[in-house]
Amino acid sequence: MRWRPQPRWLSRSETCLSATPLAAIHPFSPETLADPHDYNRRLRAEAPVYREPNTGLFLVSSYDAVVEAVQDWETFSNRFAQAMGSGREPPAEVQEAAADGYRVVDTMLTADPPEQRRFRKLVNRAFIPRRVATFEPHVEALSHELIDGFAGDGRVELMAQYAQLLPLVMIAEQLGVPREDLPQFRRWSDGFVEQLGQMADLEGQVQAAKMIVEFQHYFATKLEERAREPRDDILSDIATARVEDERPLDVPESLSILQQLLVAGNETTANAIAEGMWLLVQHPEQLAAVEAEPALLPNLVEEVLRLATPTANMWRVVTKDTTLGGVEIPKGSFVLVRYASANRDEKVFPEPDRFDVRRGNADAHLAFGMGTHFCLGAPLARLEMQVAFRTLLGRLERWRLAAGAAPPRYRLNVLLRGLEALPLEFRERSA
Ligand code: HEM
Repeated sequence: MRWRPQPRWLSRSETCLSATPLAAIHPFSPETLADPHDYNRRLRAEAPVYREPNTGLFLVSSYDAVVEAVQDWETFSNRFAQAMGSGREPPAEVQEAAADGYRVVDTMLTADPPEQRRFRKLVNRAFIPRRVATFEPHVEALSHELIDGFAGDGRVELMAQYAQLLPLVMIAEQLGVPREDLPQFRRWSDGFVEQLGQMADLEGQVQAAKMIVEFQHYFATKLEERAREPRDDILSDIATARVEDERPLDVPESLSILQQLLVAGNETTANAIAEGMWLLVQHPEQLAAVEAEPALLPNLVEEVLRLATPTANMWRVVTKDTTLGGVEIPKGSFVLVRYASANRDEKVFPEPDRFDVRRGNADAHLAFGMGTHFCLGAPLARLEMQVAFRTLLGRLERWRLAAGAAPPRYRLNVLLRGLEALPLEFRERSA
């Protein structure tokens, strides 16, 4: 299912948003994707469950309605990948690019219980808080190594030189990818994000399909190696896993799990780290509070997750006629669960747009989802964010937007939200 921008819709420059009927605002216009907060506020106030006329989607925007939908996985199914593909052939060029690839199967994120739980159990061991806590010294060393690379420059493009690398290297190591293959690994991750974002033109779709095939062949070989000679990493866990203690995972199932770890683990955490630093730069009094009181770091992480919500939206497909928030939703409808909107619901978070590192209920956010699909990597993401903020603020000070740089812009993606780049300046702290 792919939505193309309509030939014309009213943009914010043409009209005052609050006077515009909701129906005249396209949820995937570049303006709305770049800055969805006014639109989300209108949705929460006027139609928390809204049948969006331009796309035919149901947008779910209030905290309560999002919670209700994601907890009812039998009605609001995650088998959206299958449903989106049904009856729609990808363009011939994309099919050709994907011809040499493995069959795509649904595992965790794109499956429902009981399959989803069965697959999740296989990788869960690697992500439980106790095991993740043992990664801390390594994440810290990696963070210092990355900071060493630019500390002397007084300037950094934080996204490319830091935020994208920390989670990428961590997950790459867990998946047994050597450092020299990291650039390739990064391109594959971009390919998946592009595919997930639903905004690519034909050339972009073909490129994404090629990246995915490359990824599949690379890991099919590695899985064989690990099945023969297991090591202490997640890749070996997957290669040697037995589904319900019986059969091994087949290659397409293993690849689907790996793909989810790759996308879910990189882009989202990178976006959260960069957005956190951007929030701190824009709010020097909050930055000063964290610098003076490092015990605020865990709450800073939660408040950043709330405001950034890197997984801004997520799909669901409705399995039977139902009602949500008083709105009837027919079987087969596609729903966009708007986590980013729920996290700014004024009924739950007073002054929701305010960045407040001392906010009492920041951790009530839904940035990691809720219910059966609750983020598998949440402990790892939280650890990486906390180490990132601690080491960046511990070694460098006087953070600000780099001289002459325009305010950063957001990548246009329907599901994942994050900055394109973040050029910053700083000074090294004296020892
Ligand atoms: C700040 C970083 C992250 C954010 C904001 C985030 C967000 C989310 C959200 C909202 C979901 C639920 C999707 C749904 O409702 O259908 C999810 C699921 C998932 N996440 Fe994360 N995630 C992050 C980091 C990670 C990391 C580091 C990993 C692993 C390395 C990971 C792996 C997964 C997986 C495998 C799922 C699917 C779980 C299932 O369906 O059972 N995530 N994530």
